[in-house]
Amino acid sequence: MTKLLITRRIAEPVLAQAEKLFDCTVRDQGGLSVEEAADALRHYDAILPTLGDEFTAEAFELAGEPRCKILGNFGVGYNHIDTDAAAKVGVAVTNTPDVLTDATADIGMTLLLSTARRAGEGERMVRAGQWEGFGPKVGLSTHVTGKTVGIVGMGRIGQAVARKCHYGFDMDVIYFNRSAKEVGHPAKRMDTLAELMGAADFVVVTVPGGAETRKLIDADALAAMKPEGIFVNISRGEVVDEAALIDVLKRGAITGAGLDVYENEPHVPADLIALENCVLLPHLGSATTETRQAMGQMALDNIIAWSEGREPPQKVN
Ligand code: GLV
Ligand code: GLV
Repeated sequence: MTKLLITRRIAEPVLAQAEKLFDCTVRDQGGLSVEEAADALRHYDAILPTLGDEFTAEAFELAGEPRCKILGNFGVGYNHIDTDAAAKVGVAVTNTPDVLTDATADIGMTLLLSTARRAGEGERMVRAGQWEGFGPKVGLSTHVTGKTVGIVGMGRIGQAVARKCHYGFDMDVIYFNRSAKEVGHPAKRMDTLAELMGAADFVVVTVPGGAETRKLIDADALAAMKPEGIFVNISRGEVVDEAALIDVLKRGAITGAGLDVYENEPHVPADLIALENCVLLPHLGSATTETRQAMGQMALDNIIAWSEGREPPQKVN
């Protein structure tokens, strides 16, 4: 019987189906280290991994000729898997696009709104018993409706954020993306990242992670933002130079940041935690019950397709 390793507990109905079809091992002890990933590649026919499992080039090297033939990743992002190294030794990699697009875009809106309207600060004030009552100047913040949102990476998630900003909040949409996108509502493509950063009231980063976008948002990009600007990242921490972001926030060179992702999760720099003008979430983008079940199902469906000799529908390498 095909041996399947599931690296974290996923939704029960999906687990139950997996256990009917495969000889399943469910691990639930945090991410696989490089050595553990290599070991898993040697001992299982298929693996259902997720973010935090280190399927790096080194892991594939250590694994030699792996027994494993497919990594059915739970998640749209797969920057924790070296897909080229996988392909070289005949390991297919699949992901879970589409099913998490709206949930992730909704977290983008949550961060945009809560950072702009200083909801985190206000909440902390109420809980600390420090609220002294309504006043014309208490908790003043930035208006969102009608402003300009700048989207970095106009993929599925970027387009969903754009849609919500345009239809829900009457915002002007500008974007930076390798290719132009026809999105069914006005959206202006900017020629350079600096132009985008400088023209937007709110910047929302939705590019995929990986080598191509590592530190795309560097000190220069951040320096182009308006002092009123608010920066939101719902993609991957590695896309942003975190030290440069902390620097502009500390200096008040931008107004605030809403972050769902960090360079070294789950580590969040103390400097960020100390900043009142940041809203910090623990990588919740896809974390709705419905979405997480759909992601598990899609990851498993890809493994089932492979086990039946079909092409896994969401193959990425
Ligand atoms: C979550 O961040 C994912 O990549 O699905
Ligand atoms: C990410 O995969 C996206 O589709 O935007």
